[in-house]
Amino acid sequence: MRRSLVVANWKMNGSETFNQVFVESLLPKIDEVNVDVVICPPFVYLSQVDELLDNSDVQLGAQNCAVEVNGAFTGEVSATMLRDCGVRYVIVGHSERRGLYGESDELVAAKLAAVKAEHLTAILCVGETLEDRDAGRVLEVIGHQLQAVANMLGRDAFNDIVVSYEPVWAIGTGLTATPEQVEEVHRMIRQFVSDHGGAECAAKLQILYGGSVNANNAATLLAQENIDGALVGGASLKADDFAVICKSVG
Ligand code: PGA
Repeated sequence: MRRSLVVANWKMNGSETFNQVFVESLLPKIDEVNVDVVICPPFVYLSQVDELLDNSDVQLGAQNCAVEVNGAFTGEVSATMLRDCGVRYVIVGHSERRGLYGESDELVAAKLAAVKAEHLTAILCVGETLEDRDAGRVLEVIGHQLQAVANMLGRDAFNDIVVSYEPVWAIGTGLTATPEQVEEVHRMIRQFVSDHGGAECAAKLQILYGGSVNANNAATLLAQENIDGALVGGASLKADDFAVICKSVG
């Protein structure tokens, strides 16, 4: 009953030329797939990529947003502005934002609220570091990340959003969590959401996996019952590989 979703997170990569070549190469390759596809380029290229995707089913996403709507916040971009540029999905709480830019669980929850207020779909990233995993704190860390969102947004917190489990140790490292490790965490996330917002909300929640997903491992990961798609970094910069990942799901 849950549709699958594959999201390209380009991070700080791309150029006007790259974007055009990528999209023109990707679209014919994924013409037939029965899966939702989202591309998240850097802010400055959103309008260009929006135009390139014009006659396709691929949706536009952003990698981050501000909490505020507008005002004296130099360098920030609001969810309102993103919606204005044709964005439908916004990633919040990516581990690079949490780790490199000091975003707390509470700030991430406020960003998620800002995205929801614009009726855009937030992709909430959660995940543990290797230190957390080695110390047996996976469920505790992710539980805290989810609880911050639950506290700020109440019972409807997890309605109409996407959650992406991204173990920090698997991002950009070539290390992939095993399908069993991912499935265990995804089940825990679904249970948390069920306890918080009810069984129906949990049953329809799309839970993605992110962390060194590539053309070779996507099919095995995505065959798991509770893995509803992928958030792809490095491999989303190669149209051929990204197309294979989309096809592994659909
Ligand atoms: P990766 O990145 O696929 O390059 O590991 C995933 C992510 O950061 O979402």
